[in-house]
Amino acid sequence: MTNALSPIDKAKFVAAKQATEYVKSGMKVGLGTGSTAAWMVQCLGELVRDHGLKIKGVPTSSRTAKLARDVGIDVITLDEAKWLDVTIDGTDEYDDDLNLIKGGGGAHLQEKIVATASDRMIVIADASKKVESLGAFPLPVEVIPFGMHTTKALIEETLNGMDVMGREVTQRHVADAPFVSDEGNFILDLHLKRIGNPRELSLILNQIPGVVDNGLFIDTCDVVIVGFADGRVTVR
Ligand code: 5RP
Repeated sequence: MTNALSPIDKAKFVAAKQATEYVKSGMKVGLGTGSTAAWMVQCLGELVRDHGLKIKGVPTSSRTAKLARDVGIDVITLDEAKWLDVTIDGTDEYDDDLNLIKGGGGAHLQEKIVATASDRMIVIADASKKVESLGAFPLPVEVIPFGMHTTKALIEETLNGMDVMGREVTQRHVADAPFVSDEGNFILDLHLKRIGNPRELSLILNQIPGVVDNGLFIDTCDVVIVGFADGRVTVR
């Protein structure tokens, strides 16, 4: 089946498949969002259907919840699970310290809550996600709709004092309509090019009224599994 995949999908698939080795029967598993995480959910579904794996899955988005149910995973809420053994998720960028930018799919709020409530967060990625410094990928910031333009202006003002290379802030749209997250919020994308101090930026952004959470994951990821189009996988 994997022969029919494009090189990028093959890379995502082999990383996702490798990550399922960390999942054992009886575990409660956080299920990430995005195209790489979708491969992982499908691989877990196969293990559940055909190999007797017994797990409870906590999805990080409505999209993942639907996919997980479709492939036969027993889906529960985070409040039902309380705490998870492992979360497996994709990323938009990761650096040498395993800090991440996530939220390209607009799900970073639930993703961060679920990953933080897990013994271990495993990130699955293709090699293009590795960066020297975070920030080439626009940093998603989830904001509540009330006073969104005021919040955006406050973020822009805050960025003036920060160690970043770009400062443009745009509201995310899909098909000309504002993107709305699963929590009913908007997403602002911060085009920063290079983030000098991700930890400081994350803390400062989250202090701005109206900001719900940003897509920087600091000290959250434990393992990154990188897949390659030739089927190789590296773990670090
Ligand atoms: C969704 C995410 C995704 O994990 C991230 O965007 C990577 O997606 P993909 O695996 O499709 O490249 O953070 O909010």
